[in-house]
Amino acid sequence: MTARLAVLASGGGSNLQAILDHHDSAGARRPSEVALVASDRRAAGALDRARERGIAAVHVPGGDAEAMESALREHGVDIVVLAGYLRMVPSAITRRFEGRMLNIHPALLPAFGGPGMYGRRVHEAVLAAGARVTGATVHFVDDRYDGGAIAAQWPVAVSPDDTPESLAARVLRVEHLLLPRSVDALAAGRLRLEHGRVVGAASPPPDAAFVLASDAAALATSIDRMFT
Ligand code: GRF
Repeated sequence: MTARLAVLASGGGSNLQAILDHHDSAGARRPSEVALVASDRRAAGALDRARERGIAAVHVPGGDAEAMESALREHGVDIVVLAGYLRMVPSAITRRFEGRMLNIHPALLPAFGGPGMYGRRVHEAVLAAGARVTGATVHFVDDRYDGGAIAAQWPVAVSPDDTPESLAARVLRVEHLLLPRSVDALAAGRLRLEHGRVVGAASPPPDAAFVLASDAAALATSIDRMFT
């Protein structure tokens, strides 16, 4: 059975696109498919990306709980993915999707997370703190902001001449590899939340040498290995 995904996004939707591209390359083997894209912003690029693919694209003004709930129900959604969704998800929905809702955050939670910590601000805080390593986190969503159980993480080195923009770009490339694989591991039952504990969580292999690989292919291979 192919799990039906809803992707909630407030912005351009590059993480949504990464999921769509990952499914294209997996073809019929993919364990999930995007059935709905919802946004609290009418002009969100993520909605345009959905429309281009003939996927249901729904504007949910203010992320209204009732409207969001009925959109999820109407499209028979099994798993919800927050991909740059800037609002708190109503607790009725996070409760209903406990263990079936993931979020991507552009830092190594619990560091540099929490209310107000999104987008450029995250990378500014990492640089201001003098952190030498940052990264991306995929975590289960509960009613705490960025507080749910961690499903997967991948480190990204911070270089001395990094700006928030250069750092964001390198972290985003890791996000685009980490999120689709985490979503499909959840859809395929290789990753699950049991009594608050993550079973099948993905961790970087011990030989860290390639973890910071600069070329995209080596990075993709490394991250793939984490999920197989
Ligand atoms: C990503 O950096 C993600 O980590 C954060 O919001 C951004 C979404 O970017 N939650 P996009 O809309 O997927 O391009």
